[in-house]
Amino acid sequence: MGQAWGFGEHGGPEVQEFFDRPDPVPGRGEVLIRIDVAGVNPLDHAVRSGLVPGLDGGRPFPRVLGMEAAGTVLALGEDVDGLDVGDAVFGFALTGGGTYAETTVLSAPNTARIPVGLSATVAATLPVAGTTAVDVLDQLGLPAGATVLVNGVGGGVGLAVSGLAIGRELRVIGTGSTAKREHAEAIGVRFIDYTAEDVVAVARELVPDGFDGIVDLAGGTSLRTVAPLARESRNVISVGDMSVPDLGGRFVERRLDRANLERAARLALDGVLTPVITAIHPLSDAPAALATVENGHASGKVVIKVA
Ligand SMILES: NC(=O)c1ccc[n+]([C@@H]2O[C@H](COP(=O)([O-])OP(=O)(O)OC[C@H]3O[C@@H](n4cnc5c(N)ncnc54)[C@H](OP(=O)(O)O)[C@@H]3O)[C@@H](O)[C@H]2O)c1
Repeated sequence: MGQAWGFGEHGGPEVQEFFDRPDPVPGRGEVLIRIDVAGVNPLDHAVRSGLVPGLDGGRPFPRVLGMEAAGTVLALGEDVDGLDVGDAVFGFALTGGGTYAETTVLSAPNTARIPVGLSATVAATLPVAGTTAVDVLDQLGLPAGATVLVNGVGGGVGLAVSGLAIGRELRVIGTGSTAKREHAEAIGVRFIDYTAEDVVAVARELVPDGFDGIVDLAGGTSLRTVAPLARESRNVISVGDMSVPDLGGRFVERRLDRANLERAARLALDGVLTPVITAIHPLSDAPAALATVENGHASGKVVIKVA
């Protein structure tokens, strides 16, 4: 039995609640873990709101919030390869177990060992933001010296993808609101404040021939405003807005497998992928952690330290 935070029905923040739940029993291809740190993502409140039914695992209510975590393996279900009891691991909870809790079940093919030298706090940010950053840059496949616009640079994915891009010797220009300037500039981004500047005019002045790639984290009107800045529309990749093909762009292709998690962990260990963690909340403060992300203007990654 352990404490968990989740929701009693689909809806807004008012349906959220703390409750005790028995440790989930790991099914085929799952591992039970004691959670050390859980990452907080926009997807979490989307699942709570009932907007992505395919991702909630179809479990009975109350359901536990959260998709990613780092912790220690307590037990193995059937048909689990490459993981043992006692391993420090990180990965995805893809079967509805949630991660804002003391224990959960992770999907073993979507879980990897944490390499020695990498903290559980950093590892907990890699399944969603870390591997997304890797995927989107792989999909763009731009050479060193190319220029990328990161639209929504200040959040969890935006800062991760920018740091990784700069590590690959890309020139990164990023958009965000005023409070995002400091973190963005600290990692080498040329920052455009969309609340104070004309994004299109400044971007055209900086890159008159057009961007080699655009990575969009903001979506909607903002995506439509910046998309024409790309030299080729197919090199506009959105991570959050599935209507991007209407603009000639592509939605990110995600790889959630162990190999990609291991790759992100190796990049983090080598200091190439450096998630910017701006807030660490105890589990008792999970409502504040999710509210920060749900307001749409989070800085870097927010995590919940459970253990
Ligand atoms: N497909 C996938 O597998 C996948 C994986 C990860 C994330 N996502 C999605 O990708 C999106 C970003 O994720 P995230 O974790 O980075 O979210 P996040 O941490 O909440 O960051 C989003 C950022 O966008 C900025 N923003 C909002 N409106 C903006 C605008 N008009 N122009 C520029 N920046 C703006 C926000 O702050 P400011 O406005 O204050 O600058 C915030 O920093 C979300 O929709 C998420 O669901 C999808």
